[in-house]
Formats: sequence, C-alpha cells, structure tokens
Amino acid sequence: MLTNHLPRVTVAHLPTPLEPLPRLTAQIGGPELWVKRDDQTGLATGGNKARKLEFLVAEALQREADILITCGAQQSNHARQTAAAGARFGLDTMLVLRGEEPARMEGNLLLDHLLGAQIIWAGVDPPHEVASEIAQQLEAEGRRPYVVPYGGSNPVGASGYVAAMEELTAQCEKRGITFDHIVLASSSGGTQAGLVVAARATRFQGRVLGISIDLRVDELKAELSQLATATAAHLGLELALSPADFSVDDGYLGGGYGVVSDLERSAIETLARSEGLLLDPVYTGRAFGGLLDLLRDGGFQKHEKILFWHTGGTAALFGKPEVLPPS
Ligand SMILES: Cc1ncc(COP(=O)(O)O)c(C=O)c1O
Repeated sequence: MLTNHLPRVTVAHLPTPLEPLPRLTAQIGGPELWVKRDDQTGLATGGNKARKLEFLVAEALQREADILITCGAQQSNHARQTAAAGARFGLDTMLVLRGEEPARMEGNLLLDHLLGAQIIWAGVDPPHEVASEIAQQLEAEGRRPYVVPYGGSNPVGASGYVAAMEELTAQCEKRGITFDHIVLASSSGGTQAGLVVAARATRFQGRVLGISIDLRVDELKAELSQLATATAAHLGLELALSPADFSVDDGYLGGGYGVVSDLERSAIETLARSEGLLLDPVYTGRAFGGLLDLLRDGGFQKHEKILFWHTGGTAALFGKPEVLPPS
C-alpha cells in the first residue's frame, strides 16, 4: 500500500461497497454503470471527507493538537465530518463558515451543532483568513490548534484518496472488472488528485474525469496538478503531474456554487427512482447530472464500463429542501 507508512486513525467504514446500477443501465440502454459508495463511509452520515480525515486527524494527534479548525460553506459536508471526527477523537472543533448565520438551522448546519462544534460566521471575509487569525489568537492563549484546509485538500488529506484508489483496484481484481472511466465531483481537488496519483502509481488504464463544481477547467487543472505532485512527494513517490494529466469537465457550473437547477434536480430524481440511491444538491447531483448529460451526448461508448464515485453529501438534501420539489 502506498500510504502504509503514514500516520492514520481508523474512523471510516472501509472498504465502501462497489455496486452495479442495473436498472439505470437498462433504462439508458448502456454503457454499464457502477457506483463506489463513499456516501457510506460513516462519520455522521458519510462522505469523502472521512477518508481524508483519517490522515488529517492522525497528524493533528501526532502534533498534540487540542482543537481542529476548518472552514467552508454554510452547508459544508467537510465541516460536518470534521466536527464528527473532532468529537470522536476528543478534540474541540471550530468551524468558520461563509456568510451570516441563517434563520433556520438545517441539514449539515444542524448536525454541526449537534456534534458540538463552535461555529463562527465569517460574514464578508474569506473564511480561511478568519480561520488563520483565530488559530493565531488561540495559540497566543496557549491552545494547540490544527487547521484543516478547505475540503481537507492538502497532501495529507489527499492521501486518503490514494488509499481509496488502491481499495478500488483490489475490489476490481476480486470481481474481475475493469473500469474505462471513473467520474466524480471535483471541487477543492483532494479527491481527484489522490485518485490520479494512485492511478499513475498502479498504472490504471482508464480515465478519471472530474466534473467541476465551481472552477473553470484551467483553474481546477492547475490546482489538481500542484496538489497531486505535492501528494506524491508526501508519499515518497517520484511523480510530477502537469495540468495535461487531468481530465476535467467544467460544462456544468450553471449559476455557480450551490445554485440548484434542473440538472441537479433531475439527476437526484433519476438515481433515487431507478436505484433507490440519494445524491446531494451541490456536488454529487451536479456531477451525476453531468454524467447523464455526457451519456446522452454520446460521450461514452456502449461497451465501456463507467464508475460513478459517490462522494456523499446527502445531509445537504435536508439543508435546502425548498430547492428540490419533486416533479
Ligand atoms: C459531497 C461532496 N462531493 C465532492 C466534494 C469535492 O471533493 P474535493 O473537495 O476533494 O474535490 C465535496 C467537497 O466538499 C463534497 O462535500
């Protein structure tokens, strides 16, 4: 294993299931669709951050931190899973969230409170700047803060997705299946960067396609290549990745981050009604909507096998229920 030498706590429910989507595959008339169930990683309703936090929390504990600080959007899945990890390992958690406190506490935000996190509203200031100021103040008061970056996306966190790709490789070998494409939601980049580092190291022949949630292709590819190269170095691998090593589609940015449109609504309904699986309105709904659109547009060949890597976020379904009226 590429990550065996790194400090790691055990918190995620692994390996996550690898499941076929037979009814949806039949409904669209192929190609064969599968799903990797990282919505089932555990840690306060699951999601991709559980894998990253296994490595991040281990580093925090090694540094004898007593408080985790992270930042994100009002309905951040990453913030919710960081709060759960903090509670699980006896660390305080402070969440610096974008904007102002909303009138109603719903979805992830409700869970953040239940998990005992202290919440700071950043207002118009960039949350990561507020978080780093707070970390400095806390240090001056004798606390030992550990700052987790946006989305847990640094080389330590991305190592979780290096291990995840190795997990998938083992499952594929056992079941005798090879995927031509892995499709996932990509935003702060740690998930895709980790997968691509391991894909290179294990000579995976398929494509890892990130459906961008909020960045233009060039911006996301630049971030991915930097993060993946740093992640490889963190693991002791000699691997330099350039923007050209990443597949990204930014055709589904719509009205911007978190703006739910028919693309997400229809994707959520399609998967729910064909397979009984739940997506989220911000990340996986957009990414699966992009996948369905590419399928309709002939973006894949009928004989290929496609894996949708479900990165979680279903708690956010309860965060903005008014944007999801069933058709
Ligand atoms: C449900 C979900 N899917 C995908 C992502 C994107 O993952 P990454 O930030 O590693 O690109 C996030 C990030 O917050 C998420 O919450």
